[in-house]
Amino acid sequence: MTPNAPALDLFSLEFKADPFPTYATLRSDHPVYCHHAPYGARIWYITRYEDVLTVLKDNGDLFAKDPLNARSDEKRDSNATPNVSRMINRNMLFADPPDHTRLRTLVNLAFTPRRVDSLAPRIAQIATSLLDQMAASPPPWDLMSGYAFPLPITVIMEMLGIPAADQGEVHEWSKAIIAPGRHGISLKERKRRIRAFVDYLNEMFAQRRIHPGDDLISALVVAEAQGERLSEEELSSMVALLFVTGYETVVNLLGNGALALMQHPEQLTRLLADNSDAAWDAAIEELLRYDGPVETSTTRWARQDVTLHGQEIKRGDIVRVVLTSANRDERQFVCPHQLDLQREDVHAHIAFGRGAHYCLGAPLARLEGRIALRALFTRRPSLQPATPPDELAWRIGVIFRGLNALPVAP
Ligand code: HEM
Repeated sequence: MTPNAPALDLFSLEFKADPFPTYATLRSDHPVYCHHAPYGARIWYITRYEDVLTVLKDNGDLFAKDPLNARSDEKRDSNATPNVSRMINRNMLFADPPDHTRLRTLVNLAFTPRRVDSLAPRIAQIATSLLDQMAASPPPWDLMSGYAFPLPITVIMEMLGIPAADQGEVHEWSKAIIAPGRHGISLKERKRRIRAFVDYLNEMFAQRRIHPGDDLISALVVAEAQGERLSEEELSSMVALLFVTGYETVVNLLGNGALALMQHPEQLTRLLADNSDAAWDAAIEELLRYDGPVETSTTRWARQDVTLHGQEIKRGDIVRVVLTSANRDERQFVCPHQLDLQREDVHAHIAFGRGAHYCLGAPLARLEGRIALRALFTRRPSLQPATPPDELAWRIGVIFRGLNALPVAP
């Protein structure tokens, strides 16, 4: 363990309820903090803004996204057999150049600004219909199950072109990929669902090749750059990745964002008085900085021995950068613990990461956040949390920061 570093329980309810004081201590006293996982791995948490940027901007030379790239050649070979998890994990988030560059170029051809912008009217319709459904039952309402969860899952399903009749089943399968622990799914059941999902997708790819539609799956199937296309395995991995990244994250933007706005009524009132796109765009950026949906980045593996702030990170060690800590770093932001919807330094935030793996879906996330939160508070300007802050149930886990439930009343 790092000398004199505190032993942290990053999975405790107390820590998740308010991790910010702990991160402030780590930034000041242990900016490169080693956690010894029970299974023997050393996991380094990097909490200062500048250090987080250094790791994120590394192009795979020091820190690999594909764990095999941080291993010796013998260990790489012993791990080469594909299994059911690798069928959906062989995606660009866990790839280094040149694989990452090729995959990202191909998906960029399909995930275009025009496609994202065209979703705006439909997102507004989904928001209105969910708010109507909520209003049909007596308060308090759970904003998470009634609004924050269903909105992004519907958006991503429709964007991909999953037919309405299949969406229920696809949602069930996708739970095997997105937070299986939370849904109490056994390993055997997880494998069964992933296999069913992959079979379903392969059939859809074949159909869309013959009859392409105006959806993202059709665009991914035909995307071609320098004579290269995505293989079947890469296609299903890509769709699975879009489910995971495009869903859980936006859920948390809506939940954490709504909570922060309700806890700062004077700023909400000022925002609603303006209510312009520009004011909402700035507000969304600050909500992402103040209490962002992704607490730590996805895993990186040290590709060689690296020394940072006197700590020796060994080849093969796991490295995680804490985005929510970097976004509250007093070395970077003025009064970082204050929500300020008009703050000037907001665009330095790194809630969407940085570098080669910068969030592909950032424009879609911003659009969903703006439309959904504006619709909610325009209709319910006096919405209040119906639970004291210290009784809110935050989800356990190191990657996402979000609520299980958010009871509200008009
Ligand atoms: C507010 C919502 C969102 C946040 C805060 C967020 C955050 C992030 C972050 C921090 C990364 C980089 C992870 C790393 O470097 O370890 C990332 C990557 C990614 N995100 Fe998002 N995301 C959001 C929404 C979305 C949406 C809506 C989509 C797509 C539908 C999406 C698709 C992706 C993809 C595909 C990557 C991997 C990019 C690559 O490896 O090149 N994200 N996101």
